[in-house]
Amino acid sequence: MSYLNIQEPLSTNHEHYGVVSWQSPSNIALIKYWGKRPIQLPENASISFTLSEAITKTKVKYRNRSSLSEWVQFSFEGKKEETFAARIIKYLDSIKSYLPWIEQMAFEIESENSFPHSSGIASSASSMSALALCLCDIEQTIYPTQIDADIIRKKASYLSRLGSGSAARSVYPGLVAWGASSHIKGSSDEFAIPVSSQHSLFNEFHDDVLIVSAAQKSVSSSAGHALMDTNIFANTRYTQADRHMELLLQSMQTGDLETFGKIVEDEAMTLHALMMCSNPSYILMEPNTIAVIKLIRNYRKETNLPIFFTLDAGPNVHILYPDSIAQEAASFIEKQLLPLAHNGQIIKDRVGPGPIKLN
Ligand code: PMV
Repeated sequence: MSYLNIQEPLSTNHEHYGVVSWQSPSNIALIKYWGKRPIQLPENASISFTLSEAITKTKVKYRNRSSLSEWVQFSFEGKKEETFAARIIKYLDSIKSYLPWIEQMAFEIESENSFPHSSGIASSASSMSALALCLCDIEQTIYPTQIDADIIRKKASYLSRLGSGSAARSVYPGLVAWGASSHIKGSSDEFAIPVSSQHSLFNEFHDDVLIVSAAQKSVSSSAGHALMDTNIFANTRYTQADRHMELLLQSMQTGDLETFGKIVEDEAMTLHALMMCSNPSYILMEPNTIAVIKLIRNYRKETNLPIFFTLDAGPNVHILYPDSIAQEAASFIEKQLLPLAHNGQIIKDRVGPGPIKLN
């Protein structure tokens, strides 16, 4: 693929060193990616809002590698983290054919999240995209070629995807699609693309994440994706996802919040239903997840206000609503939902501007 623009290894007599830093956000899927085939390709197209507050900041120091034993040092929030370091080494090893020079460099990587580590919020989308953006940036510095910024971002999305599927979407702002879909021009299984045809009310959408439980998930996303291979509803699900994509995009173009909310909630419920009917079955919702969902539905029925929920692969509830009802939503959330949150934790987020290069 030409956009991957794979460089020759570096000639060893040149010394290269420097530091780059990027912050990259998390995202919340409206149409979920659930089920994949090798290598990290989605079984159905997905679409998400890139968020604004839940971000990872990653700093990468690089210099020529002087011995085989030194390659990657990793610290998270100021502490050496061996488990994360092992994951990063595995990741770098898996992408070295796209960035052959990375084997010739030694890296010191420092990372931190804006959201509490123990909040149960998944950080792989923000952390993998922040790292991929740093690597693409280093590549531009050490190979002085003139490549279009759009092409570099596409490569960053491709490389992010290999770290964590949903991370492919985090490299762009706003509404972002990943996965080939007949409903989205230019879409691909290999990288994500920004989608800009939506009604302006979606540019100011809120996503308040109510932390129901901060405990580590009993079944990881990778294990969950793998269980789709034997899920008897898998094909029906992929057909449904395609139809949902079509309906969601239509509703977002016209600003039809009722249809938008219906599809988004169906997606959340389907994701968790697929987990429950996997073999072996498992449940990631907690009793308070269901209590919060019921309260949101009741409140919507009583007030007719467009407030909806979605779920990631975990128990925490993402509360979605347009900026026009921010005041009513805040008071409802505070009075009725916050008492059900773990330690009163909520992350007030919204659709965001995408990754930022830091000085
Ligand atoms: O990117 P992964 O492998 O962590 O999978 C993400 C799966 C969901 O968050 C449940 C859905 C999605 O599209 O983000």
